[in-house]
Amino acid sequence: MTLKDIIWFESCDSTMDVCHRFSDITKKEISIGALSQLKGRGTKNRLWVSPKGNVFLSFLLHPDPLKVHIIHMLGTLAIYEFLSQSFHFEKISLKWPNDVMVQGKKISGVLQENIYQNQNLTYTVLGIGLNVNLEGIYDINTEYTSMKIITGKSYNVKNIASKVIPYFDNLYYSSKTTNEIVSLWKNKIDTIGKDVFLEMKDNKRLNGKVKGVNDEGDLLLVKTDKTQLTVKSGLVTKLIIN
Ligand code: BTN
Repeated sequence: MTLKDIIWFESCDSTMDVCHRFSDITKKEISIGALSQLKGRGTKNRLWVSPKGNVFLSFLLHPDPLKVHIIHMLGTLAIYEFLSQSFHFEKISLKWPNDVMVQGKKISGVLQENIYQNQNLTYTVLGIGLNVNLEGIYDINTEYTSMKIITGKSYNVKNIASKVIPYFDNLYYSSKTTNEIVSLWKNKIDTIGKDVFLEMKDNKRLNGKVKGVNDEGDLLLVKTDKTQLTVKSGLVTKLIIN
């Protein structure tokens, strides 16, 4: 069984949790897909709206611990490549750290959960949510879009998921031997050079210009007083581009 053989669920709590449960019974790397999720989750403990008609995928992975910080990059890059190469969508970009945007609106997000035992990485779960046939009004705290909103067409979700996975699979396997993933990812981030407003976990707020992203995936921010700060994604609850 490879990542390309998706284990499908009609519905589940979250494909993340299904992967966590599978980690007890298999040492293999597997893909879990669900047609809908009852407790889909996003970053910062947010709910991920998960009605039927959209892609909800998670991978149970055993990456090299030295490369664990790039796994979320592979997820966003896979969606980027899928949308640009298979669908020729235009104006696709990555919003730091985990969002894929089309025409400035969010179409996909990824979520990475790493499980450590005695400071050793046991496994990683990477989740990908892609808005495929999403339409209508949902309580989502960001402007969103979907493949259907963009093209006016409906898509078969299993078919879309099976097309996304080879992009991830290729990036994942090539990341084992090349160090180019980080620069590939950095080149697609449109947050660089922008004036941003950050809300932090400790309720602090930061304003500044994004100078770049380092090789760990952290944001390099030049504050309005010209001091420079390295910001870890886990400490940010909201990033608004001014
Ligand atoms: C984000 O906040 O942008 C990340 C969203 C990740 C959603 C996906 S859908 C499949 C997997 N299962 C979940 O519960 N979450 C991830």
